[in-house]
Amino acid sequence: MAQIIDGKLRAAKIKEELKIRVQALSGKGVVPKLAVLLIGDNPASKTYVSSKAKTCEELGMFSEVHHLPENVREEIVIDLLKGLNADTNIFGLMVQLPVPKHLNERKLLDIISPHKDVDGLCTVTAGKLIVGGEKGFVPCTPQGIMDLILSTGIELKGKRAVVVGRSNIVGKPVAFLLLEQHATVTIAHSRTADLGAVCREADVLVVAVGVPRLITGEMVKPGAVVIDVGTTKIEGRLVGDVDFEGASKVAGFITPVPGGVGPMTIAMLMKNTVLAAEAHLTRK
Ligand code: GUN
Repeated sequence: MAQIIDGKLRAAKIKEELKIRVQALSGKGVVPKLAVLLIGDNPASKTYVSSKAKTCEELGMFSEVHHLPENVREEIVIDLLKGLNADTNIFGLMVQLPVPKHLNERKLLDIISPHKDVDGLCTVTAGKLIVGGEKGFVPCTPQGIMDLILSTGIELKGKRAVVVGRSNIVGKPVAFLLLEQHATVTIAHSRTADLGAVCREADVLVVAVGVPRLITGEMVKPGAVVIDVGTTKIEGRLVGDVDFEGASKVAGFITPVPGGVGPMTIAMLMKNTVLAAEAHLTRK
């Protein structure tokens, strides 16, 4: 039976550590502040955004949410982002995704100053992650996933890692973070032939596709570390991309849904915002 990786507990510990750093910054007259743009009324996005604001408050940080209507003109969003880039009280700036279809998501993300890109999703920041060397902000969910994987004590050097999903938010960045730790990485996706055979090779299996219970116990290598990023709401309950019951009988370690990766994403957003405020002080 697999050991459960408790993301809620790990996130709580990270937040406690951040509280101390926030106090230290506040003592120097700098309170970390996060600005979030929420466009439209996607219910999941609204929930995520309000829990980001709540967590800021919990840690002694400031936040401001700019809620724009679904049909907002792109120029309005661009002007708002430019204004928030220029606002010296704001250290972290992010656009909650997805944005409505008439808006160019990439164009909006790329307006965010790399110094404030605490979500790590603008092209410059994503490029830095791939090139290595000078670091930008590491995207929140991938950063949380790496923390959970390393918390198991696994040595990634030389191990086989399989990432199922190739999104810019999770799949691609987490693959490069695993590569940085010297794992041999495969990115699988919806067109991968014989997904089961590919997954069974994995000492570390990260699944981020949003297809409930796609990964069954038979697709997991005995003893593997399994990280489930999926959160699909079915009949009011969150369901992961991994069949927990089957996979937990085979895996060595596994994240639950909820209570695995989810709480880590917000903790890492807070961490990046604190880092942004600390970097601002050292640039001064
Ligand atoms: N929507 C779902 N996950 C995320 C995320 O990590 N960042 C942003 N900006 N939007 C999201």
